[in-house]
Amino acid sequence: MKIHTSDYIKSAPSLKDCPSFGDTPEFALVGRSNVGKSSFLNSMTQRKNLARTSNTPGKTRYINFYTVTYSHPKEVKPTPQSLIFVDLPGYGYAKVSHAEQERWRVGLEGYLAKRDGLRAVIQLIDARHGPQESDIRMFEWLQFQGKKTFVLMTKTDKLSRSDMSRHTVSAARALDISPDAIMLYSAENHFGRDAMWKALQPFLSHKRPLSLRSESEDLPALATTVLDSEEDFY
Ligand code: GTP
Ligand code: MG
Repeated sequence: MKIHTSDYIKSAPSLKDCPSFGDTPEFALVGRSNVGKSSFLNSMTQRKNLARTSNTPGKTRYINFYTVTYSHPKEVKPTPQSLIFVDLPGYGYAKVSHAEQERWRVGLEGYLAKRDGLRAVIQLIDARHGPQESDIRMFEWLQFQGKKTFVLMTKTDKLSRSDMSRHTVSAARALDISPDAIMLYSAENHFGRDAMWKALQPFLSHKRPLSLRSESEDLPALATTVLDSEEDFY
């Protein structure tokens, strides 16, 4: 994909503060703190510092909106199209206070469940550790909400090929999906970037798809354990 521009737009604490982009397709990045969501965004947009990354978990604290204009490199007369990437705070970081975790949970949950224009969620999982309890709960919750979810195992540069395929199989088992449904990525060497752009293609139309679920259905809250877990690798 040829990236023309990528820009930070706004940080919003909750759904009601989120800007409206009409029918522009929007993609949200979810995952545990420090898994590499912001790095993924930089890698996809081929920018070093579009989103702030850090070794310290809990760096991203708001719902952060970025616009990207792109075109297909094979087009004779490229017509730039636009999309939105949304970088979200991570879950599963035990060192953040309870009150703050609760604020993030409410913000995340409201955004993911109710955001118009959200076409798909990209859920990042650390390839070395595989899905943790919080990842599994998040994935199940997204499925229940009827959200198209791409599962991406990232930081693959830290694993050998054979470990990678072993970890993919066990991750698929933990999430109860096919290993073929898991995508691999590295924000370090950009492995998987073309495949990710290709996978997004069917969701890039500015025409809004019919919702899979009725808005009025009662939906359960995202289990607090997602944001309140004691899993800690730091
Ligand atoms: P929060 O905003 O705190 O939720 O974290 P995040 O998910 O946005 O993670 P971030 O992108 O800030 O990356 C965390 C750390 O992991 C940084 O030190 C990155 O350089 C590193 N990192 C991210 N992706 C990769 C990757 O694919 N490979 C390697 N080797 N390191 C990565
Ligand atoms: Mg981040």
